[in-house]
Amino acid sequence: MSEAKDEFAIRVRDLVVGFGRQTVLDHLSLDVRRGEILGLVGASGGGKSVLMRTIIGLIPRRGGTIDVMGQPVDGAHDRSTAATWGILFQQGALFSSLTVRQNVQFPLRENLVLSQELMDEIAVAKLEMVGLRPQDGDKYPSELSGGMTKRVALARALALDPPILFLDEPTSGLDPIAAGDFDALIRTLQKTLGLTVFMVTHDLASLNTVCDRVAALADGKIVAIGPMRELLQSDHPWVRAYFHGKRSQMLQPQMR
Ligand SMILES: Nc1ncnc2c1ncn2[C@@H]1O[C@H](COP(=O)(O)OP(=O)(O)OP(=O)(O)O)[C@@H](O)[C@H]1O
Ligand SMILES: [Mg+2]
Repeated sequence: MSEAKDEFAIRVRDLVVGFGRQTVLDHLSLDVRRGEILGLVGASGGGKSVLMRTIIGLIPRRGGTIDVMGQPVDGAHDRSTAATWGILFQQGALFSSLTVRQNVQFPLRENLVLSQELMDEIAVAKLEMVGLRPQDGDKYPSELSGGMTKRVALARALALDPPILFLDEPTSGLDPIAAGDFDALIRTLQKTLGLTVFMVTHDLASLNTVCDRVAALADGKIVAIGPMRELLQSDHPWVRAYFHGKRSQMLQPQMR
C-alpha cells in the first residue's frame, strides 16, 4: 500500500446512494485524513446521516467505492470491522432497559469474550475517560441529564478502542456550556488517543473551535472542504448562505 493512501482514514469516491427514485448522494467524493477532526455541514435532509451510515456499511450504495483505514468497505456486515469505528448516532440510542455500565459493555459483550471482572474494569475506565464517575454506571438512561447521555453514548462508542469516531450532531440539545465541555472532551480524546473524528454538526462554535477542517454537503456532493477560514471565503451559494446568512451573522459577529 502506498504512503499516500495511508494518509487517509476514510476515502470515498464517486459514491451514489438513493432510496427509490430519490438520489441522496450523487457521485460524492471525500477524504478524511488520519488524526483529524472533520466537521460535516449540510442542509437538513441533505444526506449527512446517510453518508455516515453508508460509510459504516449500514446503507447499501448504488455506486462508488469506500475505503476505511486502507480496507475497502463492501457493505456486508463483517465482525472484523466492528473495532474500526465507534459511533454516536443522532438519536442517542442508549438501551433504556440496561444500566449505564451495561450499555458501555454492550459492544464488548457482542464482539469479545471477556470475564465480567475485566468488563467492569473497562467500563470504569471508559466512564472516567468521558468525565463520568464509576457510580454513574449503576444509573439507567432515564436517570441521566442530556449531557450525561451524550457522554455515556461516547463511552460506549469508545468501548472497543476504535481508531475512528463518527459523531452525528453530538452537541445538539446541549446548552452552550455543556456543548463547549463536550467539544473540549472530543478534542482531548482525539489528541490523547490519536483518533480520527468525523463529526456532523450545525454548531458554529464546534466548527470554529474543534474541527481541523470542515466539509460542506450540497446537491449530493461535497462542494467545499478546508479549514473554517477557507469555508468562510467559499463562493458556493449554499455555503455562503449557511455561513453568511442572517442567523449566522447574529451568532458570529466576533468570528471575522
Ligand atoms: N432508510 C431510509 N429510507 C428512505 N429514505 C431515507 C432513509 N434514510 C434517509 N432517507 C432520506 O434521505 C435523505 C437524507 O437524509 P439524512 O438523514 O441523511 O439527512 P441529514 O442531512 O442527516 O439531515 P438532518 O440535518 O436533518 O439530520 C432524506 O430525504 C431522508 O428522507
Ligand atoms: Mg442527520
